[in-house]
Amino acid sequence: MSSAVTLQRGATSVVLDLGAAMPAIVHVGAPIVDFDPRALALPVANATLDAPAPIGLLTENGTGFLGRPGLVGSRPDGSAWAPVFGQRAEPTMAAERAVFRLCDEVAGLELDIEIEITEAETVVVALGLTNVGESPYSLIRLSTSIPMPVHATELVSFTGRWCKEFQPRRHEFEALSVIENRRGRTSHDQLPAIFAGSIGFGEHHGDVWGVQLAWSGSYEIAAERLSDGRRHIQAGELLSPGEVTLEPGATYRSPDVVVAPSQTGITPSSQRFHRHVRQMHPLAGPRKVILNTWEAVYFNHDLDTLQELAEVGAAVGVERFVLDDGWFGSRRDDTKGLGDWWVSEEVWPDGLHPIVDHVQGLGMEFGLWVEPEMVNPDSDLYRKNPHWTLTTAGYTPVLGRQQLVLDCGRADVRDYLFERIVALLNEYDISYLKWDMNRDLVQGSNQRSIDDPGRAGTHGHVVGLYELLDRIREAHPKVEIESCASGGGRIDLAILRRTDRVWTSDCNDALERQSIQRGFTMLFPPELMGAHIGPHQAHTTHRAQELGFRMATALFGSLGIEWNLLKATDAERERVRLAIDLHKRLRPLLHHGDVVRTDHQDPAANVHGVVSPDRTHAVMAYVQLTPSITTVPLPMRFSGLDPDRRYRCTIIDDLGSMFEFGRTRPAWMQGYTNEDHEIVFSGDQLMSSGLQPPVLHPESVMLFELEALAD
Ligand code: DGJ
Repeated sequence: MSSAVTLQRGATSVVLDLGAAMPAIVHVGAPIVDFDPRALALPVANATLDAPAPIGLLTENGTGFLGRPGLVGSRPDGSAWAPVFGQRAEPTMAAERAVFRLCDEVAGLELDIEIEITEAETVVVALGLTNVGESPYSLIRLSTSIPMPVHATELVSFTGRWCKEFQPRRHEFEALSVIENRRGRTSHDQLPAIFAGSIGFGEHHGDVWGVQLAWSGSYEIAAERLSDGRRHIQAGELLSPGEVTLEPGATYRSPDVVVAPSQTGITPSSQRFHRHVRQMHPLAGPRKVILNTWEAVYFNHDLDTLQELAEVGAAVGVERFVLDDGWFGSRRDDTKGLGDWWVSEEVWPDGLHPIVDHVQGLGMEFGLWVEPEMVNPDSDLYRKNPHWTLTTAGYTPVLGRQQLVLDCGRADVRDYLFERIVALLNEYDISYLKWDMNRDLVQGSNQRSIDDPGRAGTHGHVVGLYELLDRIREAHPKVEIESCASGGGRIDLAILRRTDRVWTSDCNDALERQSIQRGFTMLFPPELMGAHIGPHQAHTTHRAQELGFRMATALFGSLGIEWNLLKATDAERERVRLAIDLHKRLRPLLHHGDVVRTDHQDPAANVHGVVSPDRTHAVMAYVQLTPSITTVPLPMRFSGLDPDRRYRCTIIDDLGSMFEFGRTRPAWMQGYTNEDHEIVFSGDQLMSSGLQPPVLHPESVMLFELEALAD
């Protein structure tokens, strides 16, 4: 008798082996007819334990599992450090969901495991540990294990830094690789995400399992290959000693682990992640085109200038004007004022009303920057409540951008921030908050008083932050929130449950943006991806770029402008207006379609696009990033089209983003004019052998609109 149960929804199935009390995933992916886990049961090798231990959803040392245990913790006397769970109650099973209730009476612990296949056909697993013993239980790790088949031999994880986020890197599925983030926020350099796949897996080939951990604090993701060849990805929060102590009766819930399987490469796995996010909280209307004042004026808040900027913004089609840092307290530069969330009378003697009214009079919405979790030591808030910070008594705290982190794990801190933010939302008609967070957490202890050494407080801070965001959203459900952390330092599936858009990167250099945005779409949908048209010379790289290239790069995301348009020429403003018009026309497709990325042989180019779910309409981009090594660019192959349909291909040249450099054009383009749109190719040809691009200067984007013919 097989002990397997199968959960299934659409094209995703999970087979669980229930041979032991701890359920173990033995397959996640496309449904397999009559899956029998006995086919994979291991024989006993020489010089090993007498029975091979399963890789349960929580791996247990006490069963003979010799890899990383899923639970690490103990009681004050050192006991209960290696529990083995038995069944506490019959599991609750439905077609798409199962809940298991386990307990270890010796250790005095209960474990609940929830596993569900969502509408997006992702698999979500969460663990809940309850201390039913009589002494406190100190927890160091509660991580979920998702076994991978032995043919998952390669991994793609993400690295990066400020202004260079979302950089994928490929490595072997070795004995042990651990991604460890100790920054107390999601971070720029280690993302809580990994793809495992079969040898050489690419965007459209190979078995792939995307795994994300929904958590915005410190975390660890381990990819472990056991000596018998089996392997798993284990993900959970990274806790410091003493950070989570479960008093009798208390429960710790691990962050969700979300799995997006695919049998045809990374792109379909990404599309499942996109659907997962889209279903969390869809927006009612279209994503507004934003003008953000940061790089336009920095801290120089001057009403006349900002009003004029708003006027120019409205004239080019901007829909939301966001006033960035510098409007409150003593915040005239980045050394002071954080925490004092009152409008500065010095800069805004009549409050924000003159700018809010002006912006709204121009038909735009108003958004405001805040950084609630932070405090400058030079602020009234810090002078009054120094013990509200996450610091450790007896040590000199490490500052980051001259600021400290408030302990959002404290109810009084949350109440203060809630009261201040809601007061602003009540007084002004604000439709959008840019919620920033500009430093890593270091030696952050929660202190009851200024002399209290406290305990590690990152976990409490993150949970408190979620609570604060949820409370603000409940009080003002129509206000959209953007997650920013020095650009893309806090983008993950948990913050996205509570926010609506992200500031992808502080880098507006379009060349850098090409790789940042491509990496971003491997995990998250493009409509959340703040993408702003910056000035001619990018502030963070000093590289100068043509306007067409900047606009065609930003087009695919949640479009915005981060540029002092008052310094732009009339001709440039007119071109920006055309780009915004184009974005608005294509927005329903760009923001609801399926993102596709092509594996292109030439690293000097990036080929990507968006296809409507019915595959009748698509926008594709061939991006010449740098000069190719070949004399002419290599044919571009599109993806995601219907091979059986023919498509009318229109080159979108409204943006002036295509800088041709060849002596002749390829044959299919010769005689092409924008009026002659009868260039037709089959989806099959476009995806298999592809289309020859013209010779292009680097930093060129060739945009195509593809419409399926009715035949
Ligand atoms: C960091 C953000 O990433 C920027 O966009 C800007 O909002 C500054 N903070 C303001 O201080």
